Amino acid sequence: MTEPQTPPPSATPAIVWHRVPDTKWPTAEEARASRWFSPVQLGPARARTRTWVPAMVPWRATEDGFVTPAVLDWYGRFADGRPGVLVVEATGIRDVPSGPLLRIGHDRFVPGLRELTKTVKRRGDGQTLVFLQILDFLSIRRRPEPAKYFSQHLSLRNAHREHAAKLAGRTLTDFETRAALAALPREQLERALSPRELRDLDFGQRVEVGDLHLPHVRDLPNVLPSLFADAARRAKDAGFDGVELHYAHAYTMASFLSRTNARDDGYGGSIEGRQRLPLEVFAAVRAAVGSEFCVGARFLGDEAIADGSTIEDATAHAVAFARAGFDFLSISKGGKFDDCKQPKVGEAAYPYTGPSGHECMPTVRSDARGPFSRNAHLARDIRSAVRAAGFETPIVTAGGIASFEQAEAILRDGHADVVAAARQSLADPDWFRKIELGRGSEVRRCKFTNYCEGLDQKHKQVTCQLWDRDFTDDAEAATPRSQDGKRRLVAPKWADDARPPS
Ligand SMILES: Cc1cc2nc3c(=O)[nH]c(=O)nc-3n(C[C@H](O)[C@H](O)[C@H](O)COP(=O)(O)O)c2cc1C
Ligand code: SF4
Repeated sequence: MTEPQTPPPSATPAIVWHRVPDTKWPTAEEARASRWFSPVQLGPARARTRTWVPAMVPWRATEDGFVTPAVLDWYGRFADGRPGVLVVEATGIRDVPSGPLLRIGHDRFVPGLRELTKTVKRRGDGQTLVFLQILDFLSIRRRPEPAKYFSQHLSLRNAHREHAAKLAGRTLTDFETRAALAALPREQLERALSPRELRDLDFGQRVEVGDLHLPHVRDLPNVLPSLFADAARRAKDAGFDGVELHYAHAYTMASFLSRTNARDDGYGGSIEGRQRLPLEVFAAVRAAVGSEFCVGARFLGDEAIADGSTIEDATAHAVAFARAGFDFLSISKGGKFDDCKQPKVGEAAYPYTGPSGHECMPTVRSDARGPFSRNAHLARDIRSAVRAAGFETPIVTAGGIASFEQAEAILRDGHADVVAAARQSLADPDWFRKIELGRGSEVRRCKFTNYCEGLDQKHKQVTCQLWDRDFTDDAEAATPRSQDGKRRLVAPKWADDARPPS
């Protein structure tokens, strides 16, 4: 594996286009004898193989967050491939509207989620563990029309009034102050507004864990443990084999763990302060579901942003989590709002558009290191720190993994205990099964150009460019399609499924 060095976020490395490397697929016998297809214990749960489909939001729930037939089809299709573990998308723990993303903030969501776990068990022939990723996120607004920002969103401060009055040569009413600010040229605006206000104007307002002046943000340490615990209890009731606490990317818990968390109420600043709420959440979850239910976390091996957490923070977090009794630790990277691209007016910022987004879902348009196994070194460092501290907690890695050879090398070299593949599994949900049957040459290989992620960004139903216009397996009318009617929603059936292994 290439020795990776995360470049400082300010540096702009030369762009290199990579091709998806050719690979050698194992025979069925080699697959059977491999590490990747060997079982692994995840606390109380035993996965049949070390293959894993990490969480992927497909935008298929109802507007109220309920499971739909399309959600069942989506997860059923992944289960057809019999991964060792299938993690269901980031699911909101609060009982608040959040668009067509799954929710688990109330008992009324349990029956639909129970259908989901039954579907996975049935389609996966009982060979796939199904976990639910549960998350909290703070509110984010779309980028406003400047006129609306100045007339409605901006909280006027005396400094604004004084600035506008000085330019006008007289005292202005608040209404006039807003109009005067709206009319300022950019360079003057940069003097009149604070950096945070400018960011709100340019990107849309986004609440942060450091906003202690907001009562609901100050109160997060009081409310989140029980919200996560209730959600985990419901997941257990719904038949999930475990939960993955979402402590990664751009969301609330990752922000608590982040080096950028400067809360001064005991839940920020020092590394112990930053770990405090994640550990309290875990303790509440464990108390709610008991030790017979698998509870893991996904968190960042590196935030990949200026002044963000690095692998040093991550190894400390991992050891603290292992000591607390997490059943697995799944390592991701980046995916932050801090460096995302400016959204268009009327659109929301998306945390996978900047350099840290590329680290999270790396594409073939990359730097010299390329996207393949790009983040396994983070798992390696975390795993060795956890082992050195005397814990056997399994470590999951993901990021640009799309072949048996890559996965086997990662396991052989002791860089992780479980190897996950998101986009390759979307490109071909049968791929684990094909490999197990010695038919890896039939795998439809991911291009790593992120058409799927582009759909996620637009909040459109996620599909894969390799199969979403292919209607050859079916009478077209019978294939469920996207809202625009153009794309099929799940991969075509593997036509040769019944053929015996080579
Ligand atoms: C469409 C899409 C949706 C995703 N949704 C989630 C999510 O809900 N939770 C999460 O932790 N990661 C999410 N991810 C990130 C993946 O789990 C994974 O970490 C990332 O794609 C890198 O792995 P890969 O190279 O195997 O695709 C998503 C990725 C994609 C492409
Ligand atoms: S859309 Fe592209 S990046 Fe996404 S899974 Fe398909 S081939 Fe891979």
